[in-house]
Amino acid sequence: MVSFKLFSLTTLAAVVTAQNATIRYMPFGDSITEIICWRAKLWEKLQTTEWKSVDFVGSGKTENNCKDTKYDRDNEGHSGFLAIDIANKKQLDGWLQKNPADVITMHLGTNDIVQQNKAVADIIKAFTTLVSTMRTSNPKMKIIVAQIIPMGTGSYNTKIQDLNKAIIPWATGLNSTDSPIWVVDQYTGFSGSSDLRDGVHPNDSGDTKMMNVWYPALVNALQVIKSARLSERDGEVVERRFVA
Ligand SMILES: *[C@@H]1O[C@H](CO)[C@@H](O)[C@H](O)[C@H]1NC(C)=O
Ligand SMILES: *[C@@H]1O[C@H](CO)[C@@H](O)[C@H](O)[C@H]1NC(C)=O
Ligand SMILES: *[C@@H]1O[C@H](CO)[C@@H](O)[C@H](O)[C@H]1NC(C)=O
Repeated sequence: MVSFKLFSLTTLAAVVTAQNATIRYMPFGDSITEIICWRAKLWEKLQTTEWKSVDFVGSGKTENNCKDTKYDRDNEGHSGFLAIDIANKKQLDGWLQKNPADVITMHLGTNDIVQQNKAVADIIKAFTTLVSTMRTSNPKMKIIVAQIIPMGTGSYNTKIQDLNKAIIPWATGLNSTDSPIWVVDQYTGFSGSSDLRDGVHPNDSGDTKMMNVWYPALVNALQVIKSARLSERDGEVVERRFVA
């Protein structure tokens, strides 16, 4: 009898802990995730909501003079990196091992196009590898993929738009209930002139626009994670009562 009660309490404690466990969010990408201020703006906006305890995770701590000493700087933005290289070198595998996540945002492909004029099909193939890595790390990973922002220099935007178009059917094809992929449009409404500070990276106005596109998608993903955890808890409690 006594040992049975202990078992029940232990189970209940584990269940409550699981329900309360912090949600871990990895901002993943290149310099447009690393040396920008949309992460600071996103973190600040979450502080006014029930999601203020969400833990930003990643090996990077880069600060970009965002004039914000409080925000959680952890991120997996890597300046200059190509999606194709990250996939081929299996770098995300190690990054997620060090810093597992429940939800991830990905803004990638800019360097593939701007630095090396890679084919859209090859970038998409790399995205598939990256999604597979995410799901190996966490079969329930919630994935938010950006249709990427335009550039202000050169003539890259036709190809950027080709990539952005290809992202939709690709994401639909890989979608799943446990690990949904949501596509967000960071291109439309973003100005290659007035929202960039250097032709490549967002300035204050661009950071605000990017944050405003990420925010509803991230909050939706957090809600999905929370609901799943609550129903798992209900399932366990029912099971425990049944056993008792
Ligand atoms: C879970 O969260 C509630 C409300 O925030 C808190 O009162 C409780 O102590 C937490 N429980 C655990 C096990 O962390
Ligand atoms: C993937 O499925 C989710 C529902 O689980 C849906 O909200 C989302 O739009 C789908 N994504 C794509 C790219 O179709
Ligand atoms: C953003 O940068 C562009 C020039 O690159 C400038 O025209 C615009 O005023 C800047 N806006 C803000 C809010 O920093």
